Amino acid sequence: MMKTFKGASINSIKPMMARQNAAKKRSIDSYVSILSRILTQPARLQWIYRSALKTLGMLLCVMPMLAWAEGEKAPEREVMKLAPEHEAHVRYEMRGFLVSLQGINEALAKQDFEAVARYARQSGASAPQAAPRGLGKALPPRFREMGGATHAAFDQLAVDAQTMGDTRVVLEQVSGIMKQCIQCHAAYRFGK
Ligand code: HEC
Repeated sequence: MMKTFKGASINSIKPMMARQNAAKKRSIDSYVSILSRILTQPARLQWIYRSALKTLGMLLCVMPMLAWAEGEKAPEREVMKLAPEHEAHVRYEMRGFLVSLQGINEALAKQDFEAVARYARQSGASAPQAAPRGLGKALPPRFREMGGATHAAFDQLAVDAQTMGDTRVVLEQVSGIMKQCIQCHAAYRFGK
């Protein structure tokens, strides 16, 4: 008796399987030929390499963020407890720093070194806004030191911008000042 498979005889299945195998082989062949065409065209190769590099770059950017989100805490900063009027004044000065940096950038783009100096001096050591009484004593010595250095750096930038009028020098000084912002922000915060 003839073996049957789901109602069809083995003989009737054989040609079907042969057709399927042939189709499979054709599709593999066409994959191979497409792949070899892609890989032998320099423009496409370049595109592939570039996409691969872009993906790798994105992964490298995103991975540290994921690590951060997964519970790596920001490093602890020293908490400063100041009287409300002292804290308000420090914050006011901070916002002045930001205004100066923006003004310096804008003036620099116009190559207006007088304006660069003017914006820098607004955050210099002799900036007009008077500090409330007792603020100096209330600040940790290292904080005072870093704050003083930042004011002094703005004064230096003002002098150099006026005397040299050199964009590169100003940019370097701005970058140095911003490092000071970063350092202090990494070290201190206000708290109750
Ligand atoms: C000597 C330390 C120190 C330096 C230098 C410093 N900051 Fe700050 N800044 C702080 C602290 C502390 C805070 C408050 C952080 C908090 O909210 O707890 C602050 C807050 C600020 C704020 C928010 C102000 C607000 O109204 O809340 C801005 C804007 C700012 N800083 C800009 C700057 C810029 C720009 C520079 C550099 C030119 C700079 N800071 C340099 C210590 C510093």
